[in-house]
Amino acid sequence: MSDVVAARAPGFRPKVAVILGSGLGGFVEEVTPVAEIPYADLPGFPQTTVGGHAGRLVLGHVGPTPVAVLQGRAHYYERGRPDEMKQAIRTLAAVGCETLLQTNAAGSLRLDMTPGSVMAVSDHINFTGVNPLFGETGDSRFVDMVDAYDPALRRRLLEAARRANVRCHEGVYIFFSGPSFETPAEIAAARVLGADAVGMSTVPETVLARQAGMKVVALSLMTNFAAGLVPGALGHDHTIAVASAASGDVRRLLRSFLEECCA
Ligand code: HPA
Repeated sequence: MSDVVAARAPGFRPKVAVILGSGLGGFVEEVTPVAEIPYADLPGFPQTTVGGHAGRLVLGHVGPTPVAVLQGRAHYYERGRPDEMKQAIRTLAAVGCETLLQTNAAGSLRLDMTPGSVMAVSDHINFTGVNPLFGETGDSRFVDMVDAYDPALRRRLLEAARRANVRCHEGVYIFFSGPSFETPAEIAAARVLGADAVGMSTVPETVLARQAGMKVVALSLMTNFAAGLVPGALGHDHTIAVASAASGDVRRLLRSFLEECCA
């Protein structure tokens, strides 16, 4: 798979891999492209089934920074496999990416983080009980998860938010399997556990990237208050609509981060 990348973009060596979450795929317009490769042409890359996820790898530059942007991810809930992103993450590490910048849509567990606001992920809680490294052998499976979200890169993300004039919270992301949304009782439990935002992604990729030696930085876009925080029902259409409406802020923030992060 890394030879496909080498063939389509000879000599190009991305430094930062970017995963674009639900409704945030429009960020690729910020990339000056070198090559675009459909996941279908990349062995082991996921075939995504979720609306709002295009399934394409875009190689190019944001400012001076060479990037590899994954427009869409596979989720655990799609096929019940937590290791769907294993090959993709390993390919990105193999072609030179030192950092993984993740974005996701999430539900807010805090009333001060209103829909449309963003949060830099400081840590995560894996509430699913599954791990993308299940079945692996050898000591490399015992991945350290202290400071899994790189503190220095998170500071740079917060600085980028200030430059972009976007208020950015910091907090803990809790991973639920989905695809059904959480119950109000589950969200009440998650608050007791110390979570600030809830979502159905990101955590497997963080584990895989840390194992591959990449630094990780992650940004959650709140598309709704989590179940039971306020009256009303949840839906994926709403996730996409709010993510799209707030995507301008996210785009400016990510651009600002990528322009400065690797200088
Ligand atoms: N729960 C889980 N995933 C989500 C949510 C939510 O409330 N909003 C967006 N993604």
